[in-house]
Amino acid sequence: MSREIIAVIPAAGVGSRMQANKPKQYLKILDKTILEHTLSVILSHPAINHVILAVGKNDPYLSEMTLFPHQNITLVEGGETRAESVLNGLNAIKNDYAWVLVHDAARPCLTHQDLNKLLQIDDEQGAILAIPAVDTIKRANEQQDIIKTEDRTELWLAQTPQFFRCDLLRNALEQGLSQGANITDEASAMELAGFQPHLVAGRSDNIKVTRPEDLALAEFYLTRKTL
Ligand code: CTP
Ligand code: MG
Repeated sequence: MSREIIAVIPAAGVGSRMQANKPKQYLKILDKTILEHTLSVILSHPAINHVILAVGKNDPYLSEMTLFPHQNITLVEGGETRAESVLNGLNAIKNDYAWVLVHDAARPCLTHQDLNKLLQIDDEQGAILAIPAVDTIKRANEQQDIIKTEDRTELWLAQTPQFFRCDLLRNALEQGLSQGANITDEASAMELAGFQPHLVAGRSDNIKVTRPEDLALAEFYLTRKTL
């Protein structure tokens, strides 16, 4: 039997950098919220069995969406940080040997083509989508003066989805959080636990909608996207 693949989507952030009147995942692009665009890419993939969505406590925006209740989506409460939101999602999974695909709600432009590349991974180190850095990278001091130019050839920008076996990721996140580590993605928790996740080269249009100017770009990509 093929392995069970469950998507965990953290959607409990407040979107402070977007400076909008609601969390950015509930802003509309082309008549659908960013969250709905993201969910539709994930739910329409034939290999994904179920979605666990971590949302803010007493989130008032969810009920505005016609998508809920949905038989393939389980809602859980998010946490203070992204890592805690993801961990809450993992705690709702009964099968320890399921594989978990963690994907930001704020990345609506993901393609099935990229997802397929990642889903080929079947090694317990796990893997993430990422792109090689293209800009010249500077290290700065607190006054924003350049200290040095970094060697770009070894640097990658991490994206999501990130793909791990459920029990290994859960242990890594619990361990990292208990150590007070700053965990900004799942791979960093796995790295702290001694794993070496693989980098799968993705597409640069899989942007994380973060700042106001990203909305126009996401709309452009979504207009052109087929899946
Ligand atoms: N997220 C979450 N729980 C948190 C913080 C973030 O589920 N406590 C989610 C966000 O909803 C988003 C994803 O993690 O889908 C990536 O985080 P980010 O882009 O940083 O979103 P926000 O934290 O909402 O934005 P900001 O950092 O600008 O406040
Ligand atoms: Mg954030």
